[in-house]
Amino acid sequence: MKEDSKGDQLKRLLRILRNPIRELCLKDVYDKLAQLEYRSFNRRFYAIEQVTEYLIGAQIPGDYLEFGAYRGTTFIHAYRWMSTHFKKMRFFAFDSFEGLPSPSSIDAPDGYSSNFIQGQFACSEEEFTKNLMNRDVDINRVRTIKGWFKETLTQSKAENYGIAKVAVAWVDCDLYESTVPVLEFITPYLTTGSVIAFDDWRCFRNSPDFGEKKACKEWLSRNKHIDLHELISFGWNGMVFTAEIRKS
Ligand SMILES: C[S@@+](CC[C@H](N)C(=O)[O-])C[C@H]1O[C@@H](n2cnc3c(N)ncnc32)[C@H](O)[C@@H]1O
Repeated sequence: MKEDSKGDQLKRLLRILRNPIRELCLKDVYDKLAQLEYRSFNRRFYAIEQVTEYLIGAQIPGDYLEFGAYRGTTFIHAYRWMSTHFKKMRFFAFDSFEGLPSPSSIDAPDGYSSNFIQGQFACSEEEFTKNLMNRDVDINRVRTIKGWFKETLTQSKAENYGIAKVAVAWVDCDLYESTVPVLEFITPYLTTGSVIAFDDWRCFRNSPDFGEKKACKEWLSRNKHIDLHELISFGWNGMVFTAEIRKS
């Protein structure tokens, strides 16, 4: 039998590898396109990038706290952008990891709850952590705090978390009832320049009498030494502020 020439052997090898290579190359192109598409649609990502630039320019110290972390999409993006610039920054994820509580009273006037329903955005803490690890997040810089905000966001528990200053509070918990304990919790850790981002600022038909806006309005009226200044608006929903803390 005639032995294969080197050329034949190479052809055979390429024939075997053709499909896997094509799949791999296409997958790569597909992933890149998906990333580009996601980025252009997801204005949160751009807001995170702008916030990072602001933190660098304004030299804001402290940690990144996300209230309502779900699967970690925004959290991972924040980590990827902020962790390299701020080597000491830690990343806290607060969530029930059971999804939203049942919208009630002010969060469900006449049965209208801005499309939010009980259990929406449920993602287990394990899955959240797995998502972070799959995206090369250094888990040593991350702390997840599982539970309902009214139980986890108390000042006595705050001491265990070791938070000294908030650089960014990313508030993405949709409801008025959920936002009230968040704002109370971060109050002592804000400094002038700290960022507070409300992902759901214009939910509940953009009314100041519902949702995160109402919680914020009431919080400011209880804390006359705090002012908020607009920094970035993102999408139809979100608004980012910086805090100003006046000495009393
Ligand atoms: C819209 S999702 C967060 C999305 C996430 N920030 C992102 O961009 O990928 C809202 C999250 O808030 C959490 N949440 C809302 N109210 C809560 C409460 N009172 N206590 C604990 N978690 C709450 C839900 O479990 C859910 O994961």
